[in-house]
Amino acid sequence: MKPKYVIAGNWKLNKGPSETSVFVRDLSDQLTHEVKNSIDIIVAPPFTSLPFAKASGIYIGAQDVHWEDKGAFTGEVSAPMLKELGVQYCIVGHSERRLYFNETDRMINLKTCTLMRNGIKPIVCVGERLEERKAGLMNNVVRFQLSAALFDVEIKRPDDLVIAYEPVWAIGTGDVATPQQAEDMHEVIRQYLEKHFGINTGSEVRILYGGSVNTDNIAGLIEKDEINGALIGGVSLDLAKFISIIKTVTEKER
Ligand code: 13P
Repeated sequence: MKPKYVIAGNWKLNKGPSETSVFVRDLSDQLTHEVKNSIDIIVAPPFTSLPFAKASGIYIGAQDVHWEDKGAFTGEVSAPMLKELGVQYCIVGHSERRLYFNETDRMINLKTCTLMRNGIKPIVCVGERLEERKAGLMNNVVRFQLSAALFDVEIKRPDDLVIAYEPVWAIGTGDVATPQQAEDMHEVIRQYLEKHFGINTGSEVRILYGGSVNTDNIAGLIEKDEINGALIGGVSLDLAKFISIIKTVTEKER
């Protein structure tokens, strides 16, 4: 069965509570039930905006989590706390967290495990840097990131886990991967998932593309078989553009 498409907005450090509540209300109001049922739509605002992100037919995503449930970890937020707020998805291992906050593969693995234990679906980000692509190392880099992030992870249902392929050189640069470049990497990820989680599960885990997705390039990306949706940064902050992307993907679903 072809998995349901996902369109997720990673808002990063943007939109406080009031902007968030207006955005999700308008988003939900401007989409029909049919559209909201046909694909999974996620918004991932900053922590303090999460309680204000509830709207019918829209899933709430967090951008990070700590791997312990509680304890002396100043400044952190745990998976049970997110769960209590109604968070259904959580981004882990985003390249900005790897780069600016020294997040390691081990931490990403612990975060993925705690999310799954608490019934929150991790969106695990992988992707190579430009110099790694230039050296032809992208397949190995992504396979290594997957093996580290998913160590000891058990998947009960394929939609319990989402992978986002986000080449670092495409994030926030306007330099989107071509549909074929993305598809090639999604195939590498698919093969890894099928090998490690079995063909039934591995073939249905959703793999999203992220990195400079916009209203013009989404149609070409979504044409590809292994691209099951998109994780969108900058453009997801603009309601009209986010809706336009959602509608393009919904058309494809029909
Ligand atoms: P941009 O869409 O702004 O390139 O960001 C992508 C991203 O980092 C999504 O997680």
